[in-house]
Amino acid sequence: MSATAATHPAPAAGRFISFEGIDGAGKSSHITALADWLRSQGRQPLLTREPGGTPLAERLRELFLQQEMDPLTEALLVFAGRRDHLRCVIAPALAAGAVVLCDRFTDATFAYQGAGRGFDPAVLTQLECWVQQAAPGALALPVGPGGVGTDARPHLLQPELTLWFDLPAPVAAARRAADRAADRLEREDQAFFERVRAGYAERAAAAPQRFVRIEADLPREAVWLQVCQAVQRLLLQAAPPAVPWAGR
Ligand SMILES: Nc1ncnc2c1ncn2[C@@H]1O[C@H](COP(=O)(O)OP(=O)(O)OP(=O)(O)O)[C@@H](O)[C@H]1O
Ligand SMILES: [Mg+2]
Repeated sequence: MSATAATHPAPAAGRFISFEGIDGAGKSSHITALADWLRSQGRQPLLTREPGGTPLAERLRELFLQQEMDPLTEALLVFAGRRDHLRCVIAPALAAGAVVLCDRFTDATFAYQGAGRGFDPAVLTQLECWVQQAAPGALALPVGPGGVGTDARPHLLQPELTLWFDLPAPVAAARRAADRAADRLEREDQAFFERVRAGYAERAAAAPQRFVRIEADLPREAVWLQVCQAVQRLLLQAAPPAVPWAGR
């Protein structure tokens, strides 16, 4: 090891994978299986979710899911939780070399509050920059291709890989109905979920480097195969270069 490397060790190369899709698409069903599989491969997975992921953000999640509020309040709560989640959980895990598996991240805010509720995406973009923007001299983290150079916003902390579970709203609604009682968002009508789905399609088209569309209207085994293939492809690639993130 060179003297320089000993004095300034490079951060371990963590990987950041998000799971996206409308309610009932199958995200949670596969995220746990993926964590088990990664462990069997000698990797260190960290399973987390949004809204939530820290004690503070979980309290915000409860408010968010149970209480009526206007779209700006929704967006502010979600991004406040995201800031805490990035600082306290995601950034340290990536710096320690973990594979972070996050059940929803910022794409969900654009899909639900943006496309679903019709909230101004320019405001969401601004919040995204405040919360996820890198800054010189801050903590160095690996940042995926979705965050580097795709939309003239270099050094925006984004997942390296986003698995988008895509299926028609009526299929997801039938799965949810068989599974559990609906929360505040799940009680929205199917037109809402079709708008959310279209919002995801737009985000995927804007960042094709990191999005992989999972055909989720298939039997579980067929969905799992797609998830595995996408993650294996990612892990065969070298981890992206670390860039500073202004979280500390
Ligand atoms: N491929 C599949 N075929 C049929 N049913 C499925 C499939 N995948 C998941 N399910 C079932 O659909 C229901 C919803 O799945 P799951 O909870 O994983 O969705 P989700 O995307 O995590 O939803 P939410 O966003 O609301 O948390 C569950 O009952 C699950 O067992
Ligand atoms: Mg879930």
